[in-house]
Formats: sequence, C-alpha cells, structure tokens
Amino acid sequence: MICLGIESTAHTFGIGIIDSNGFKVLANEKATFTTNEGGIRPIKAAEHHILFFDMILQKALESAKIKLEDVDLIAFSQGPGLGQCLRIGAVAARTLALGLKKPIIGVNHCIAHVESGKITSGFKDPVTLYVSGANTQILALASGRYRVFGETLDIGIGNFLDSFGRVLGIGFPAGPKIEELASKGEKYLELPYTIKGMDFSFSGILTKVEQLVKSKKYSTEDLCYSVQETVFAMLTEATERAIAHIDKEEVVITGGVASNQKLCGMLKTMCSERNVKFAAVPRPLATDNGAMIAMTGILMHKAGLKNKISETNINPYQRTDQVDVVWCK
Ligand code: ATP
Ligand code: FE2
Repeated sequence: MICLGIESTAHTFGIGIIDSNGFKVLANEKATFTTNEGGIRPIKAAEHHILFFDMILQKALESAKIKLEDVDLIAFSQGPGLGQCLRIGAVAARTLALGLKKPIIGVNHCIAHVESGKITSGFKDPVTLYVSGANTQILALASGRYRVFGETLDIGIGNFLDSFGRVLGIGFPAGPKIEELASKGEKYLELPYTIKGMDFSFSGILTKVEQLVKSKKYSTEDLCYSVQETVFAMLTEATERAIAHIDKEEVVITGGVASNQKLCGMLKTMCSERNVKFAAVPRPLATDNGAMIAMTGILMHKAGLKNKISETNINPYQRTDQVDVVWCK
C-alpha cells in the first residue's frame, strides 16, 4: 500500500510518500515559510502553503516515481497546530481523497513524530523526547495512549534558543549557531535551573541570560555554552526520570533540536549509564515533514481506523494524550 501524507501544522508544508512494505520513504518533499521579522503570521504561512501545494505534490510524485492514481491512502496532520495552516492541509487531503476515491485519515502531529521515531530506530516502546520550535515533550505509551510525562510550562526549547539568538543578534534559526558558539565556550555562568517535577520552564532563563548579554561582561561563546549546559541538563534529567518511573529501555530524540550533538551526547551518556538504548531521528524525518504523517496513517489504517469526510475537521488544540493508540495494542 502507498500512503501520501500531508503536513501543514505551522510553517512547513510537506508531502511524504511511503510504501507500507517496510515503511520505505519514496518521497519526502517540503517547503518552509520563513520571515525576517521573527514570529510567523499564520495567514502568511497559510498563503505560502496554498502557493506551494501543487509544486510540492509534483516533486513528491516525481521523487517517488509514481502517479497520483497509485496512491492508496491519504493521511494529513489534523492537529495540533495553527488553524489557518492546518486547514490548507485538510482541504488538500480531502480534495485528493475524494478525487481519487481513496480513504482519508487524520493524524496527530506529535504522535507522528513518535511513530516515525519508532520506525526509524526500530525501537518497540521508547520514551520519546520531542524537541522542536514550539514543542518540548517527553512522551511514552501507557494504558493505550501516549502520555505526556514532562513538558515545557511556557515556550518550546527551539523558540527559546531562537529568542536567545535574537538577543545576541545572530539570526534565525539560532539553534545551530548557538551550538557552534557554545563549542568554543569554556566558562560556566550560573543560570536558573528550572525543573518542576517532570516539567521545565525556559522563560526565566531567557530573562536572566538577556540581562547577562546586556551587561556586556561575558563572551557570546561562554553565554551559549552556559545556556546549552543548563537547558540540555534539564531535558536529560527529566528524560532520565521518565525512564526510571515507567521502566522503559529505549530513548528516542526527535524534532529540529534533535540535530544538536551536545544534547544527543548528554542523552547518550545518560542512557549508556542506565543500560538503555538511544537513537536520534535523522533530520529530514525529525523536523516537520509529510513522511511521518504517511507512516502514522499506514499504522492507523492497518488497525482498521477510517475517517468519514465529516470527521476530517482540523483539531488545532488536540493533545497527544487525547488519542487512543489502538494500533499499538
Ligand atoms: P514544531 O514541530 O513544534 O511545529 P518547528 O517546525 O518550528 O516546530 P522544527 O523545524 O522541528 O520545529 O525545529 C526548528 C527548531 O530547531 C528551531 O528553533 C531551531 O533553532 C532548532 N534547531 C535546529 N538545529 C539545531 C541545533 N543544531 N541545535 C539546537 N537547535 C536547533
Ligand atoms: Fe513538529
């Protein structure tokens, strides 16, 4: 079976094509809306998605070397995300499904990150650390749902790094530049370490580090080094506690921030000390993409799940733990 998956929760419009036989990625094309002014205006991102739909679809079909008629199932990101952006993906998915007379399935975006992590790592029942621009969650399966064992109480880790980057004036996205600068830092500057139970918060650290930048007393390298050491230690600590509490033996990291070698290194060390397996999702499948939506669509379809068109409304505020994960039973 061939599944076409559509991703449009925020600034990325992506189409992935997956062959259910071995979850082979036949295509994973995307276009990302960017802006120099910082935050994204949902309406502008939605206009971008409309504009790029046809081109991305054609590119995906070409990469996959298939015709549209060869597609057996349409999957799309149903939520959570920006309503105006989600709506474009949903309309595109309905149009394709109705035109091709093929089944359609709505997928939870965060769960798609988890499932694609399981597929790429081969792990059966991991704790997933999902670290992207807007999201920072520790997820694991318990009693039939992906439960959120820890999450940010304010901003996502990626947005935190990008906001810090704006204070430093190093451009967007700041994560990779902070990583590079941090590798040259040596002196650890004390920052708030804000873990509350299994949850974490970043806005207080941002305020503190802004003050340090403005004082002009510290090098950019040392500031980046100290920020990384602090926030990544928080994420590693909470992930370690999740493994211990719920007795899991595998850890997967995914999302755009999974590209960070420092964070991956800290997690890897923690996992090897606990005799737990560790895997990082490769970047094209870790950042927002259509392939992960198609992979999850296949899992759901195989479990007998189907959506009527009337059930394909977007769900901008859907939480990860609202979805019954019947395909894992
Ligand atoms: P979401 O998945 O929550 O909708 P998004 O689409 O903004 O969010 P991604 O594309 O998964 O998120 O990730 C983007 C984030 O990843 C940016 O904040 C960027 O700074 C960060 N990032 C990318 N590379 C690195 C890196 N090497 N180190 C740290 N952060 C990084
Ligand atoms: Fe995402």
